[in-house]
Amino acid sequence: MAFVDLTVSQLGECRINSPLAQLLYIRRSSPHWVDASDRVLLDDTAAMVAARGGDVRDLPGFEAGGPRRKIFFDPSKTRVGIVTCGGLCPGLNNVIRGLVMELTRHYGVRRIIGFRNGYQGFIARYGHPVMDLDEATVDDINEDGGTILGSSRGQQDPAEIVDCLEQLGVNILFVIGGDGSLHGAQRIADVIAERRLRIAIVGIPKTIDNDIPYIDHSFGFRTAFSRATESIRAAHIEARSAPGGVGLVKLMGRHSGFIACYAALAKNDADYVLIPEVPFALDGEEGLLAHLRRMVARRGHAVIVVAEGAGQEHIAGHGTDASGNARFGDIQRHLQQRITEDFAAHDTELNLKLLDPSYVIRSVPANPYDSVYCVRLAHAAVHAAMAGRTEVVVGRWHGRFVHIPIHIAISTRNTVDPDGDLWLSVLESTGQPARWGPRPVQLKAA
Ligand code: F6P
Repeated sequence: MAFVDLTVSQLGECRINSPLAQLLYIRRSSPHWVDASDRVLLDDTAAMVAARGGDVRDLPGFEAGGPRRKIFFDPSKTRVGIVTCGGLCPGLNNVIRGLVMELTRHYGVRRIIGFRNGYQGFIARYGHPVMDLDEATVDDINEDGGTILGSSRGQQDPAEIVDCLEQLGVNILFVIGGDGSLHGAQRIADVIAERRLRIAIVGIPKTIDNDIPYIDHSFGFRTAFSRATESIRAAHIEARSAPGGVGLVKLMGRHSGFIACYAALAKNDADYVLIPEVPFALDGEEGLLAHLRRMVARRGHAVIVVAEGAGQEHIAGHGTDASGNARFGDIQRHLQQRITEDFAAHDTELNLKLLDPSYVIRSVPANPYDSVYCVRLAHAAVHAAMAGRTEVVVGRWHGRFVHIPIHIAISTRNTVDPDGDLWLSVLESTGQPARWGPRPVQLKAA
């Protein structure tokens, strides 16, 4: 059986009775009070287990999240730090609020500080003061999008960050961030381990692109794609109200087209969904341009939803951003130019409308679903940290809250599987070709 090491690091033995006892003692038959031996299975079908060459007696599983009977940190002596890193995502404030409330109300932790503007907040030369966090400070912050702590992209020296944690006496650091920030969190944890410090690093994975693996969905993703549906609806209304109407909606999604897929499925008005995972041809009779022209001639209008990272094989990019992410060429402008030229060359009327909700979808407050998810993630993160778990992120896998070692969460990227059922649903819903370009000879119509 292919070995996957899902062991979660632990700072030491838990000797302190958890203050959560007063909440949980009556729940004798519930799954609360998580025992270390409990596992959430990695694979959820027998076929997946078989594909690893294993049998049911050898199932890899994530450590289950939730409160432990014994905890590691003494709440009265524990100092906690919180930092938000990378691009915005709906629900950041909900997570901050959830962490502070759980720490103070149920564990009795009184000393909580927020580091401002991502990893910059630890570095003296930036001069960002820390922010004291308590119930009053976070009272209604969940009503707003963004993060009260501010955020920034880019890494900082992990040794300087650990210096700062030591100086301030921080015992637990919660990092709310995406792939790049979690790589940073792992480097911080490595320095902590080298110095033999007992500081817990617990991540709460954040990405509106939904590209972090081993979690059912990232928080804020549902809010973001729900908001994106408004642009698809507008594109459809514009397109069908003009002769030769074409709506072209660009949505976020650098390497993973989940926002485009889910928004398109939710709205059902898209005729084409273009995502980074599925290359497409523009030219030729089986390319997008000819297909679109035929669609507009037949139906009168069409809607295209394109993820920002799609079709990069057709255009040039521009270096990288502060997080080291590739800066992509503008696929929407490129499609605009190519579609306009193509319709003109065929003397066909075109009314092309471009929509790009851009930051609108990620700066909004979390919707009710994500608000619930965020607060529950925050609770799971506090339980994990107070029980001494470290180098770990919390997530929900197959509906259960779990502890995922950081190195596993950053080991790969979650992408839309072109052979999977999500993409099949998109093909079914749009009716777009399953493959672009010339068809294999044996598939050609008689
Ligand atoms: O990482 C999430 C994300 O929203 C991507 O979808 C998008 O490409 C990127 O961030 C843009 O972020 P910024 O302009 O803030 O660097």
